[in-house]
Amino acid sequence: KASYSIALLEGDGIGPEISAATVSVLETVATAAGFGLSFTPALIGGAAIDAVQDPYPPATHAACEAADSILLACIGGYKWDSNPRDMRPETGLLAMRSRLGLFANLRPAKVLPQLIEASTLKREVVEGVDIMVVRELTGDVYFGEPKGIDVIDGERVGYNNMIYKESEIKRIARVAGNVASKRTGKLCSVDKANVLDVSQLWKDVTTDIMEEEFPAVDLSHMYVDNAAMQLIRWPKQFDTIVTGNIFGDILSDEASMLVGSLGMLPSASIGEPGGPGVFEPCHGSAPDIAGENKANPLAMILSAAMMLKYDLGRDEEAKMIEDAVEAVLDGGFRTADIKSDGDGCELLGCKEMGDKVSEMITSMVK
Ligand code: NAD
Ligand code: IPM
Ligand code: MN
Repeated sequence: KASYSIALLEGDGIGPEISAATVSVLETVATAAGFGLSFTPALIGGAAIDAVQDPYPPATHAACEAADSILLACIGGYKWDSNPRDMRPETGLLAMRSRLGLFANLRPAKVLPQLIEASTLKREVVEGVDIMVVRELTGDVYFGEPKGIDVIDGERVGYNNMIYKESEIKRIARVAGNVASKRTGKLCSVDKANVLDVSQLWKDVTTDIMEEEFPAVDLSHMYVDNAAMQLIRWPKQFDTIVTGNIFGDILSDEASMLVGSLGMLPSASIGEPGGPGVFEPCHGSAPDIAGENKANPLAMILSAAMMLKYDLGRDEEAKMIEDAVEAVLDGGFRTADIKSDGDGCELLGCKEMGDKVSEMITSMVK
């Protein structure tokens, strides 16, 4: 294909800043590689609530379905935190994932040698870490019914339902089996089967799928509390991790600190082959630094690289972005979140970091 249409969902908080940086990097890559890119902006989250009183408007869904791929920044902010649930930014994000059928969320936590000092952990613990978290994205306690806050026996009771169907576990297990097969073949399924029935089913089904369909995959199981500890104690024991929606949400943020910052972690949300995926950083809208040109755009820029690879079949151009990011880090440029005292690096703003990556791509192809 010579040209691709991308739905661009800037969202809230630092969303517009990191989106601008990412779009300029993508445009640089497209020019260098000689393909076309068109961006269709669409509203999601708080911005959509403010404009049309719907966190995932029909027009946005239509734009997503019509696109070759979807690039999302981040949503959320204090302003909407006490809205009713259907008027929350997060509800829009969840609706998008669910309605597009994006049941698998790939969150790579790969420690770059340039950023070892940015991690709060010791060099020998993080050096060489390369983990892929395969997070189920459209089930679990996020979507289970019934849910709500009701008055029962004279007091308020809040409840959600942690629930997985066998078919949902099977399909995410297959994604994880394929991912692990292309990596080292080691897969750790994380659950809470010692306590939760839903986790026992998860463990049983995952075990069966691996035995029947991925005999070469070396499957292990770990309880989520232990996994949270092991990730910090000795992360190199992990290669691919597969887990449910909420455990994966938590463990992937934890894994970002191995890399050095949440501002470095990209992700790909994918469904059945053929439809567009959503490529989004793991982080949120960072309201504490929004509008200050301080955000790290690299998580979104690396998500764009995942988009080129997974949705557009542009592996070479994806690698150009990844190489350029590493070269910029090699050059000693850092945003605030990955800068450490006395590292001798130059502090850049969000826009300037995006520009550096673009310049690097241009100089690499010359
Ligand atoms: P957050 O990820 O927005 O921020 C956590 C911390 O990490 C903050 O200190 C923030 O400044 C920092 N951080 C995050 N991204 C960064 C970046 N690119 N560069 C530099 N620093 C960065 O999480 P939160 O504060 O718990 O949530 C804020 C809002 O974001 C909430 O409304 C939440 O629901 C939403 N959220 C959205 C997404 C998403 O859009 N996918 C993900 C997580 C949280
Ligand atoms: C993420 C976020 C979302 C999630 C929220 C904002 C709904 O934390 O993308 O990791 O929990 O999935
Ligand atoms: Mn999260």
